[in-house]
Amino acid sequence: MTTTLASAPALRIGPIEVDVPVVLAPMAGITNTAFRRLCREYGAGLYVSEMITSRALVERNATTMRLIRHHESEVPRSVQLYGVDPVTVGRAARLLADEDRADHIDLNFGCPVPKVTRKGGGAALPWKSDLFGAIVQAAVGNAGGIPVTVKMRKGIDDDHLTFLDAGRLAEDAGAAAVALHARTAAQFYSGAADWSAIAALKRAVTSIPVLGNGDIWSADDAVRMMAETGADGVVVGRGCLGRPWLFGDLARTFGGGGGSAPVDATLGFVAAAFRRHAELLVEFFEDEGRGCRDIRKHVAWYFKGYPVGGDIRAALATASTLAEIDDLLGTLDADAPYPGAAAEGQRGRAGTPKRPALPEGWLHSRDLAADAADTLADAELDHSGG
Ligand SMILES: Cc1cc2nc3c(=O)[nH]c(=O)nc-3n(C[C@H](O)[C@H](O)[C@H](O)COP(=O)(O)O)c2cc1C
Repeated sequence: MTTTLASAPALRIGPIEVDVPVVLAPMAGITNTAFRRLCREYGAGLYVSEMITSRALVERNATTMRLIRHHESEVPRSVQLYGVDPVTVGRAARLLADEDRADHIDLNFGCPVPKVTRKGGGAALPWKSDLFGAIVQAAVGNAGGIPVTVKMRKGIDDDHLTFLDAGRLAEDAGAAAVALHARTAAQFYSGAADWSAIAALKRAVTSIPVLGNGDIWSADDAVRMMAETGADGVVVGRGCLGRPWLFGDLARTFGGGGGSAPVDATLGFVAAAFRRHAELLVEFFEDEGRGCRDIRKHVAWYFKGYPVGGDIRAALATASTLAEIDDLLGTLDADAPYPGAAAEGQRGRAGTPKRPALPEGWLHSRDLAADAADTLADAELDHSGG
C-alpha cells in the first residue's frame, strides 16, 4: 500500500513549474524519446534525455541530433549535456537555446566510467572547482534563460568528496537546481546510496531546489527520501526500468494529478507496456529492426518475477519484427497476477566498488593546472553515462 501525500509539493526549476517533484534520471541508452514518452503516458514530472556529448552536439553529429529530438507531447523538453570544456558546453547550450530545442538543460558531472574519469571528466571533474564553476557559468550564460541544473555524485571517493563545494558553486553560478546521486565514483552502483549526503546538501544549498537520487525503487521510497533528507524532489533511474508505470504511482503519491489509475500489473498488462515500448522505439529509430533490437535489453526488467520461460525470454531477445514480438507475447498467460516481491527491488546496474581511474596528479590540487588541459581535451568521448 503506497502512502499518498495530502498536498503536491510542486517543484520549481527556474521558470518551469513541474507538477510533481519527480524527475526521470538521464540514462544513456535508455531515456530516449521512446522511453520518456512511455513514462510520461503514465505519470507527471520532468523527463530528462540521455546524456548528450557537448562536442558532438556542437559538431551536429547525426546520431546526437536524433537523440535531442523530442515528441510534441514532451513538454517541458529536457536535455542533459556532458562536457569538460566551458567553451564547448557554452556553445552547446547556445545551440539548444537559439534553435529552441530544449526547455531545460541538465549538466552531467556524475559519470564514473573509468575511460571518462581517467581523463578528468564526469565525476572526477568537480574536484577542479575552477573548471566546474566555469562550465556551469558558461552553460547558464549561454542558455538564453533556459534553466540549467547540475547532476553530480558525492565525489571521487570518501576521502575526496566534492558535492558540498560543487553544490554551492553551482548555486553561485546560476544553476536552477542541483541533484545528487548519493554515491561516490568509487562506489559505482554498489552498496546503498547515502541519503544523509542529500540532507547535508540540502542544508548547504539554500536558494535553489536540491533533488535526491539513488535507490528509489517504489513510490514509498520516494516519500521516505524526501522526508528523511528534506529534498525538494526525487530523481528516479533504475527503479523504472521495465516499470514505466512507476511514474503513475509517483504522480498519485505526490497528488499532483496527471497520473494514470493504479495499475493491476498482470502479465498481460506488462506485456502490453513492453509492446508499446517496442513500438515507440521503432518509431524513434524509424527502423523496425533497430527498435526491436533495442527493446531486447529491457526484456529481463519487464518480466522480472513473472512466469515467462527462458525460451520465450530468449526468443524476445532475438526477435527482429513487431509481428514476431506479438506472436511471442501472445503465448503468455495474460491473467498471471502481479508476483509481488519477486517483481520488486533492485534492477539495472549494480556492480562492485572500483578505485577510480584519474589523470596523473589529479588529486594534488583542487585547481586545474595548465598542463591538465590536454588531458581534458580527450575526455569528451562517447560513453555510457552516469
Ligand atoms: C544504464 C544507465 C545509464 C545512465 N546514464 C546516465 C547519464 O547519461 N547521465 C547521468 O547523469 N546519469 C546516468 N546514469 C545514472 C542515473 O541517472 C542515476 O544517477 C543512477 O542510476 C542512480 O539512480 P537510481 O538508483 O535511481 O538508479 C545512468 C544509470 C544507468 C543505470
